[in-house]
Amino acid sequence: MKVLITREIPEIAKNILLENDIDVLVYSKNKPISKKEIIKYGKDCDGVISLLTDKFDKELIDLLPNCKIIANYAVGYNNIDIQYAKSRNIIVTNTPDILTDATADIAVSLVLACARNIVSGDLFMRKNKFTGWDPKLLRGIELRNKTVGIIGAGRIGQETARRLKAFGTNIVYFSKTAKKEFEIELGAKKVDLDKLLKISDVISMHIPLTDKTRNLLDKDKLELLKEDAILVNTARGEIIDENYLIEMLKNNRIYSAGFDVYLNEPDYNRELLKLDNVVLLPHIGSATYEARDKMAKLCAENIVNVLNGKQSLTPVN
Ligand code: NAP
Ligand code: GLV
Ligand code: GLV
Repeated sequence: MKVLITREIPEIAKNILLENDIDVLVYSKNKPISKKEIIKYGKDCDGVISLLTDKFDKELIDLLPNCKIIANYAVGYNNIDIQYAKSRNIIVTNTPDILTDATADIAVSLVLACARNIVSGDLFMRKNKFTGWDPKLLRGIELRNKTVGIIGAGRIGQETARRLKAFGTNIVYFSKTAKKEFEIELGAKKVDLDKLLKISDVISMHIPLTDKTRNLLDKDKLELLKEDAILVNTARGEIIDENYLIEMLKNNRIYSAGFDVYLNEPDYNRELLKLDNVVLLPHIGSATYEARDKMAKLCAENIVNVLNGKQSLTPVN
């Protein structure tokens, strides 16, 4: 049996597969694999470890006749047509839980960076501008008593809320279902999306990208934001009308925004680079040594299970 890994990931994945008598082909150019190359190297593979940058649509799935599992090296799986995969008896798995802390840490980092001029302050020093303590230099916003709105109160949303609660905030959330334990633990209140956008001082996005959530924060929704709101997106760029948000930031219509994800990755709107009320990260939510190692291990374990006729550990279809 043979598995294609579409990019170099921690060695543990390859090692687990080899120990289980599965041949491994790692695409080792330091850039995303193309569709053509997936077909070239994957056409006779029994399984694939894919990245969120690999788009597995109907056309590609049809060209992988032996494939029994696509193990996505991410918790989000909007890059894969999971229904179509299912119709072709291909199991799709993701990597939940093990990257939750890493991603929640990045969401909170973006909130603090946006609230307290962390990046502008660093730039200020590097430009040799510091001439001493200054009463008015780079004042920001305090979190205590502010309202945090969590959009998508799942694993990462709840963990982000838990962290931000420790800063003395009040938590509201928008999600499909009520989260009773979360409400009791943090005093969190479930509200509808419009209300969340109207009352929150900090909004953090944690909803997956689906047909229902694409452009969820459209122009009309974004206009509900408070004048001094901070908006942070570590979910997916396509969930927000990014161009309209950029216009709002240009006009100082909200206080600031933190981005880990973008509308047209790997491209991103260069207008963002002209704004000093944004903090920009290169999609590094799960980028810790710990999370990335565990993700590699889980992908390989899912493949081993499925290729041995057992249940996968974390199926999504
Ligand atoms: P999760 O546990 O599934 O949480 C997502 C939550 O969104 C669920 O609780 C779900 O609500 C809610 N939701 C889904 N569709 C909804 C809808 N139409 N309306 C209202 N609520 C909806 O997922 P997670 O592990 O927290 O990950 C969340 C997302 O973060 C991923 O899908 C991925 O896109 C992104 N992510 C990004 C990075 C990064 O590097 N920046 C890293 C990891 C993950 P219910 O529970 O109420 O059904
Ligand atoms: C990263 O964006 C993931 O979905 O794991
Ligand atoms: C600041 O450094 C202070 O002591 O208040």
